[in-house]
Amino acid sequence: MIRLDSIEDGAFVELEAVLDGDAESVIVHRVGNEVRAWLNVCPHAGRRLDWAPGKFLKSAEGLLVCAAHGASFELDRGDCVAGPCRGDSLRAVPVRVRDGMLVLGD
Ligand code: FES
Repeated sequence: MIRLDSIEDGAFVELEAVLDGDAESVIVHRVGNEVRAWLNVCPHAGRRLDWAPGKFLKSAEGLLVCAAHGASFELDRGDCVAGPCRGDSLRAVPVRVRDGMLVLGD
């Protein structure tokens, strides 16, 4: 796992994690001292959202944009607010900070 302070405030990183026994790619987003995490799987066509590993697009409005076909997600709940899967959501991954380290999963 990585330290919270290794993620720039407002940035995204991609982490590989084993969740429920499966290796998964996870998007982690830092907002101040809080973090949010979602599976790196777009609800539109199941593609990764990053255009290169760990490289995510963020719109001028502050939305996370899928590099495949442009679905845009708000960063509170991971809901798609524009694009081909509008109304769907990213799958949230439980994440917390313990002793300055990120802990993914339950
Ligand atoms: S797979 Fe993300 S918008 Fe199509």
